[in-house]
Amino acid sequence: YDTISVGDLAQNMKVKASEVIAKLMGLGVMATINQPVDTDTAMVIAADFGYEVEQGVTEEIGMQMLREAEEGGEQQPRSPVVTVMGHVDHGKTSILDAIRKTDVAHGEAGGITQHIGAYRVRSGAGDVTFVDTPGHAAFTEMRSRGAQVTDIVVLVVAADDGVMDQTREAIHHAQAADVPIIVAVNKIDKDNADIDRVKRELSELNLMPEDWGGETMYCETSAKKNIGIDSLLESIQLLAEILELRADKDRKARGRVIEAQLHKGRGAVATVLIQDGTLHLGEYFVVGQYSGKVRAMLDDKGQNIDQAGPSIPVEVQGLSGVPSAGDEFIVVTDEKMARNVANVRSLKARESELGVKSKISLDKLFEQM
Ligand code: GTP
Ligand code: MG
Repeated sequence: YDTISVGDLAQNMKVKASEVIAKLMGLGVMATINQPVDTDTAMVIAADFGYEVEQGVTEEIGMQMLREAEEGGEQQPRSPVVTVMGHVDHGKTSILDAIRKTDVAHGEAGGITQHIGAYRVRSGAGDVTFVDTPGHAAFTEMRSRGAQVTDIVVLVVAADDGVMDQTREAIHHAQAADVPIIVAVNKIDKDNADIDRVKRELSELNLMPEDWGGETMYCETSAKKNIGIDSLLESIQLLAEILELRADKDRKARGRVIEAQLHKGRGAVATVLIQDGTLHLGEYFVVGQYSGKVRAMLDDKGQNIDQAGPSIPVEVQGLSGVPSAGDEFIVVTDEKMARNVANVRSLKARESELGVKSKISLDKLFEQM
């Protein structure tokens, strides 16, 4: 079996060995700089860094990283990805509904059904991709993953309720992921709304409003009465401009799974947010422990599309299994590579699962003694 040392792999890609080691850890492989890794693992790592392994030469000179997947790719501006977070029932989905009504495309499409938990809104100033998250306490993991795929978090806090558990938790996730927050103080139409209280409570959590001398943008909204929605969109565009978001739409696609399920007619499907590159029909990919070929793609309106670029959420059909939310989605050259990588990953997962399981059963054994 062909192998390459971690150090050589890193050197070929002109990255630090520590970065390769970190990626390996992400795959569940503990490695040191001199340790050999097998071809399949090396291919996954290389793909993660935007390289392709040329296999023809492996016998002679070991593994060589010969070319970047897409050479000389240019970084072009891309639209922002915004995740809406906050405590349960504070009005996240209502705000998104209100925003969608301002969508110029909405009129034509009629009553848009929300096919996936992420969708595009075309506003006067530009496109925005929104990701909705549930506020229920059980969905911590989803909020944490939401924070990872996003450029901006809109934190929704109901003015009649103030800062609650999932408000704090959302702030924590956003700050951990180093994502800027825009606060939407919602339900300002309510009699018992207390906007200043929300501002005070959030100031104690490092979110001091601009008009109080702080740095956080606040918008006062009523999703119900359609107040402040335009200014929220403006704030998002303003912040997006400052962030100067870029991607290379000409390279092979990579993205992250937002949600995935087994669909009756379509088999395993995943909603993938494309983060870089462009995904095309017919391309092979690896996603978590699974592989596949893009058999069909649906956009957020449920329409068939044949390609999807950066910041676009898309439902991908043609997966060999159901991946987990947060899994990385990477396009690879061919079917063999896709399968190999998926096999290596599922093997690793099974190994670690077995490891955990045997420990648990041992513990149980001791309990019973
Ligand atoms: P989860 O997804 O369950 O966490 O809730 P959510 O944050 O998405 O809240 P949702 O949009 O479902 O709204 C919860 C309730 O608050 C609904 O009954 C809405 O009609 C109501 N609501 C939302 N926004 C406003 C508002 O601005 N004013 C008033 N009065 N009610 C609102
Ligand atoms: Mg909701």
